[in-house]
Amino acid sequence: MEKFIVSGEVQLCGNVRVGGAKNATLPIMAATLLCSGVSILHDVPYLRDIQAMQDILTLLGAKISRQGRTMLIDTTNVSKAEIPEPLMREMRASVFLMGPLLGRFRKVRVSYPGGCAIGPRPINLHIKALEKIGAKVDESFGYIVAEAAELTGGEINFDFPSVGATENAMMAAVLAKGTTMIRNAAREPEIADLELFLNKMGAKICGAGTDTIRIDGVQLLVPAEHNVMSDRIEAGTFLIAGAMTYGDIVVENIVPEYLFSVTDKLQEIGAQITTGRDYIRIKASEFRGVDIKTLPYPGFPTDLQAPMLSLVAIAKGTSIITETIFENRFKHVDELTRMGAKIKVESRTAIIRGVSKLTGAIVSAPDLRAGSALVIAALAAEGTSEIEQVYHIDRGYEAIEKKLQTLGAQIRRV
Ligand code: EPZ
Repeated sequence: MEKFIVSGEVQLCGNVRVGGAKNATLPIMAATLLCSGVSILHDVPYLRDIQAMQDILTLLGAKISRQGRTMLIDTTNVSKAEIPEPLMREMRASVFLMGPLLGRFRKVRVSYPGGCAIGPRPINLHIKALEKIGAKVDESFGYIVAEAAELTGGEINFDFPSVGATENAMMAAVLAKGTTMIRNAAREPEIADLELFLNKMGAKICGAGTDTIRIDGVQLLVPAEHNVMSDRIEAGTFLIAGAMTYGDIVVENIVPEYLFSVTDKLQEIGAQITTGRDYIRIKASEFRGVDIKTLPYPGFPTDLQAPMLSLVAIAKGTSIITETIFENRFKHVDELTRMGAKIKVESRTAIIRGVSKLTGAIVSAPDLRAGSALVIAALAAEGTSEIEQVYHIDRGYEAIEKKLQTLGAQIRRV
């Protein structure tokens, strides 16, 4: 099992460029199943979750090749519409293969997606959306079978703006007969990127990025070429690392607007932020505690809650962080406590009393974003830290230690 060894108290300085977004690439890879032929994706990052999706598509009959940051996906021979259990468990994102497989084959059989460390991850909203456009969905023996003689446009109103369910609904509706309206849709930028890709394939979608999305069904889709948008969560992670180490870094290849709720909070904490068309610069000298509540986009993103909790652990004063999106997303707290943080968790709220300094310790990454929070804490902590189970971090960050090394961090993978 690989681990990171980190020597702390090093100020990060310099420029770092973020790559393509994991959470844009995954649904777009799934969307290629809606047509037959070769789609070309650029800026695709090397991540474990991308590899998992590649394995699933290959098993379904797709031929996938990579040349540097470009991925070619040939879906000509895709015939199966059934994903075996082990691969479904491998990654939550496999659930949004249901939409495209239903759209193309009018039938799909999947096992329940793996729950993961951050919560049970129900898919009731996904199923409700597919039923609204004509699918008959049976759930039994841990499997879900969705089939439809015909898909017809419908009215989908989400109780909660679920990212995955919005993406599944879009992909299932593009080949339905008639118009589908999705209301209370998730508004994340990755959904607008999926709309862009689907429209390049010949779909007729508008409204992604707002809470109402209209899809006019078409007969046929064709392969497309697309540059995947950059990863706002990777960018936010590096900004927080820069602040935590009292450094001065520039994060490149990012649209500042997509991180407004995060940079706004970082300024409230006391960091100096300057932005340009495609970069964000952060400098920090000291910071004070703040209150944060995670919300659907454009609110503060749940994926940056853990890194931000590391930051406020050494802020002056007390901070209150409320996690409204997932039930169990404070698994970094126990590990940070071992580094000297003073944190109390009550249900979905963490109360953090700032300490002057964290101390290095041997800790274990419990999940992807909690793992990134531990890396950030170790960069600032006094002494040396060891972070185990770094495979969690590799799910969502490409060679994070190499990018941090270019900013001066003393971190190595063993
Ligand atoms: C996507 O997950 C992201 N993953 C997550 O990123 C991100 O944290 C999340 O959106 C919220 O922004 C991908 O895009 C691959 P949701 P998703 O459906 O689609 C409940 C990361 O670290 N819910 O918006 O699974 C659910 O239990 C990952 O990169 C239902 O109740 O998120 C959760 O509490 C982690 N029923 C809440 O909604 C449903 O049918 C948000 O889930 C679906 C969801």
